[in-house]
Amino acid sequence: MQSVLITGGAGFIGQNLVHAWRAARPTDRLTVLDAMTYAANVRSLEPLIADRSIGFVKGDIGDAALMQRLFDQHKFSRVAHLAAESHVDRSISDPEAFLQTNVLGTFTLLKTALDHWRAAAKLDTARFLHVSTDEVYGSLGPADPAFTESSPYRPNSPYAASKASSDHLVRAFVATYGMPALITNCSNNYGPYQHPEKLIPLMIIHALEGKPLPIYGDGSNIRDWLHVSDHCSALMHVIEHGRTGETYNVGGRNERTNRYVVSLICDAIDAAFAADPALATRFPSCPAAAASSCRTLISYVTDRPGHDHRYAIDASKFVREFGRNFDVGFETGLPQTVQWYLDHEPWWRDVTSGAYKAWIEQNYGFRRAV
Ligand code: NAD
Ligand code: DAU
Repeated sequence: MQSVLITGGAGFIGQNLVHAWRAARPTDRLTVLDAMTYAANVRSLEPLIADRSIGFVKGDIGDAALMQRLFDQHKFSRVAHLAAESHVDRSISDPEAFLQTNVLGTFTLLKTALDHWRAAAKLDTARFLHVSTDEVYGSLGPADPAFTESSPYRPNSPYAASKASSDHLVRAFVATYGMPALITNCSNNYGPYQHPEKLIPLMIIHALEGKPLPIYGDGSNIRDWLHVSDHCSALMHVIEHGRTGETYNVGGRNERTNRYVVSLICDAIDAAFAADPALATRFPSCPAAAASSCRTLISYVTDRPGHDHRYAIDASKFVREFGRNFDVGFETGLPQTVQWYLDHEPWWRDVTSGAYKAWIEQNYGFRRAV
């Protein structure tokens, strides 16, 4: 039985990880810590909080006194650190919060965990999993081999630079203080509970509402997509069975252009409307409600500055060491994700009310059709 701290547990991957962990390791004690930024939502965790299957604390990883109190009280033996500012476009318009949380916040959390585990003589048995991203490696050319754990760090956005800094801090804590930490660098996730400012949910919701589907640049940029359930099971594997001090790349070898991803979303929505006539009543502004294609909404707009062209992850170290692969193929997982958003309209209506509207105006108001 472990006492586990999951930071950022009210975010997209965090919520999925809490549910996966609860199901796989029911005897562990889980505490979720989340600052409840705009990106957080605890709706899916409420039943677990209500029946005390998990503890929930609203707080900032950068709050050293709070971190110390939590470690003293819960004597965590595992930390899965997911709390972060995670959206590249927001890091371009307002980078400061990324440095505060991703760099300084990670430092405070690391230092608290180190001090606590040292004092309790737990450095040999405790584990700190730092959840990071493939964006630290920068951008690949069309023919370049996929990123491995020894690819050089070349971050291009303030978000990627802040995650790279946090990776370096973790590495330095391992080398200098013997911190029992591991790092995962994962490719783009998709699936339930992803915030509608990210590509896939944004396009699904815009299509349902009959709004333009804003593809940055010419849409030839490539991301390597991994279903969030595969990421979560990889994280649970690495924290328990990985070698401390090691980095593991995680990714499903699903390289797809943005153009292709958006077209697939359109086709999945068109097919769902054809199969279920009630959808036309629920979403009358969607082109599929009038038997047209959502593809008619696709619009190419001003590119993201410093837009990385291609990410691809070589996860062969993970597959070799753990004898596991990733289960969900993109062409299966994407229509399932579209269906999830069709089935969870109250969830995304809630998330897209209020401050979300201001963000859409800020990020898309200035973009012109290209
Ligand atoms: P998210 O933005 O959906 O969730 C992040 C959560 O962290 C939110 O609930 C937010 O409230 C919380 N948070 C932010 N600042 C905090 C602070 N100072 N203290 C405590 N909590 C704070 O992000 P996500 O997509 O779930 O990503 C989770 C982690 O995985 C991040 O570290 C991200 O860099 C990494 N990652 C994400 C992806 C992806 O495709 N989404 C891929 C690879 C790695
Ligand atoms: O690679 C892992 C990273 O993936 C994570 O570390 C980040 O936290 C996560 O946000 C994600 O970053 P991306 O920048 O790749 O994700 P995003 O969903 O913002 O964009 C995916 C691609 O789609 C990217 O090439 C930009 C493009 N895009 C995005 C939006 C929001 C568009 O063309 N139009 C859009 O409106």
